[in-house]
Amino acid sequence: MRTSGMESTPLYQQLANHYREAIESGSLSAGERFASVRMLMARHAVSLSTALQVCRHLEAKGWLEARPRSGYFVCHPRSLRTPQLEEPRADQPLDAAQYVGIHARVSAYIARGQLAPIKVNFSGARAAPELYPAAALARATMRALRQQPDMFGRVAPPAGNLAFRSVLARRALECGMVLAPEEILVTQGCIEALNFALRAVTQPGDIVAVESPTFYGLLQILETLGLRALEIPTSPQTGISIEACELALRSESGIKAIVVVPYLQNPLGSIMPDENKARLVELCSQHQVALVEDDTYSALADVAMQRRAIKSWDRDGSVIHCASLHKILAPGLRLGWMAAGRWQARVEMLKYAQSRNNDTLPQLAAADFMGSAAYDRHLQRLRARLREQRSRTAEAVARYFPSGTRMNTPAGGLPLWVELPRGVSSDALFDAALAENILISPGLMYSNTMRYENFVRINCGLPYSDGVDDALRRLGEIATLAAKRGKR
Ligand SMILES: Cc1ncc(COP(=O)(O)O)c(C=O)c1O
Repeated sequence: MRTSGMESTPLYQQLANHYREAIESGSLSAGERFASVRMLMARHAVSLSTALQVCRHLEAKGWLEARPRSGYFVCHPRSLRTPQLEEPRADQPLDAAQYVGIHARVSAYIARGQLAPIKVNFSGARAAPELYPAAALARATMRALRQQPDMFGRVAPPAGNLAFRSVLARRALECGMVLAPEEILVTQGCIEALNFALRAVTQPGDIVAVESPTFYGLLQILETLGLRALEIPTSPQTGISIEACELALRSESGIKAIVVVPYLQNPLGSIMPDENKARLVELCSQHQVALVEDDTYSALADVAMQRRAIKSWDRDGSVIHCASLHKILAPGLRLGWMAAGRWQARVEMLKYAQSRNNDTLPQLAAADFMGSAAYDRHLQRLRARLREQRSRTAEAVARYFPSGTRMNTPAGGLPLWVELPRGVSSDALFDAALAENILISPGLMYSNTMRYENFVRINCGLPYSDGVDDALRRLGEIATLAAKRGKR
């Protein structure tokens, strides 16, 4: 049993965690008789009360069930599986393109979220601070300052530090993109890159096709720029519907851009198959529409799968690749970048006009870290932690949420997109959870319509703890009550 670093955890909980891991890994199977209290006492040299506490704790968490006069039996989480989200209907007529009015809704949720102290925050889409390599980045920062003590006295290149852009270009090769460092513009996170991308290719009133549901930050950009959103049905498995994109491109003349998140779409967690990416590039090129690729999360995909960016299919410069280090390396640094194909000069001009260059120091620290194998080791660790946290969160949702709940378990990333039974309002759930100091992200933030009112996005970036488990149990109880009221 692994106990190092767990000295402050009570012994019964250490043992319970050990058996939970054995059940999770499949070494103990569902339906199997669990060790008797006497066996636990002998095996671990613990008292009767500790052995009993282990069994009761595992029972309370749903890993064991007590059968009268027979002892404890293993419950495998697979037996708690939640039905999958339904696939969207791609053959239905699309909603008309709409001017976006999301600011008020988003700002109201942010303001309401600040009304109470938060104990458990499921609302963001990032990992806990301890899962990022802050100490190594601090050392890299000190090294950069020692090497260039006059850094703050010198003006930096407007498109970004060349050493950093060279490391980004080398890393882009891992996703099949062959880019010269000069083809990369360093930005203030992906959000600035998306702003420039859409400003480069649209005029107010133009239509931008977006995934539905989509990340509310993108809807906010459309609203700010006076653009209209055309929400395209998006599969929780395979991302944006190519069929629906094709239909939209044929029937709507004002579409100037399509924005997609091909890997681990926010909030769905979908991953586009390669053939869909290739087809979308072809369609956009054919209709002379810009294809904006948002690659905020691909490095968090579970398996060391061959990741292939949409940009790698680009032959005529129609794909604008936007990326970020905010979620994968350092939430405390606002570092992003873009490669804008035939709009590169225009986005460089927009960056220069709007915010000039990014600061040199964070770029050098990131270049130092990302240029070494420590970056690969960090990503490997982060992916493994997120996989475990997602799986435990999904099990808790399966155990605690009302029947009729649907959810997919994405192959990587941070959030789970959970559909509550019809009639359960995530807006009401938001308030009820907030009253218990739990923050969630309601589905209404992810569309310009009311379509996702009974959905909630749960961030799995927090290390799984009893506090997280309790908060999910409470969310489940509140949702169950609301579902029962809805049925009456
Ligand atoms: C899909 C997507 N794109 C872009 C962003 C913004 O990225 P950044 O924080 O790097 O600006 C987010 C943040 O949540 C996101 O989920």
